[in-house]
Amino acid sequence: MTLKAARDLVREAERLVVLSGAGLSAESGLSTYRGAGGYWRQHRATDLATPEAFERDPALVWEWYSERRRAALEALPNPAHHALASFQEQRGRDRVALVTQNVDGLLQRAGAPEVLELHGSLFRVRCSARCGGECHDERTPWPHPVPCAACGAPLRPGVVWFGESLPELVYASAIDLASSADVVLVVGTSAVVQPAAGLAAIGAQHGAAVVEVNLEPTPLSGSVNVSLLAAAGEVLPVLLAP
Ligand code: APR
Repeated sequence: MTLKAARDLVREAERLVVLSGAGLSAESGLSTYRGAGGYWRQHRATDLATPEAFERDPALVWEWYSERRRAALEALPNPAHHALASFQEQRGRDRVALVTQNVDGLLQRAGAPEVLELHGSLFRVRCSARCGGECHDERTPWPHPVPCAACGAPLRPGVVWFGESLPELVYASAIDLASSADVVLVVGTSAVVQPAAGLAAIGAQHGAAVVEVNLEPTPLSGSVNVSLLAAAGEVLPVLLAP
């Protein structure tokens, strides 16, 4: 019953917002953060994913992000990415919004027309002094600690670190999308990192039905309309099939 209920909700949605996390890319072979084998089980986030970590040891931080970029480039989109990309392509970006915490670019590589990246991307770098002088994109050879050509401060990965705010325009768009959704589909996130995790609640407060697909229960699970404890790569193709 729950899979059918979820499928009906998602397929009948006029404005579907999909909020995804690292679990969406797990079946592509990329590590999650908090699950078994997750990054924060092997490293301290404060050693790698904070402005202080970068200031303390930029080479170590670059090394970790270069390794993650390599892994992401080697990974292939899995059936969940393809199901979401196809659904957005078929229904259009006005009816299906893909909002992700992931920085791996796999939804785009699956052909998704538009992805809102809340936490930035492994494939962008920017000036650490925010001089705005440079914003490299994936075509730029991946720089190790090199100075910004405009101001000389070190370039840094174009991702959002702990203790940093989300890009204002990106977050404002995400709130608008969640507030006007009639269905929010949450996929592969432990729903513990704010403000991203709060988007589903914003949707629910504005009347949206919430469907969760996750391998294990999360703080959201008790309050969603339908909770599917399953792998994204198995469930999404069924949920979103024509
Ligand atoms: N299908 C569905 N869910 C899965 C799968 C899968 N194949 N594999 C793992 N999961 C679930 C895990 O059970 C876990 O609940 O995905 C969730 C991943 O949670 P996290 O590792 O915490 O990742 P995420 O929620 O994306 O983290 C949010 O925290 O460290 C920061 O910036 C980082 O964007 C990240 C944010």
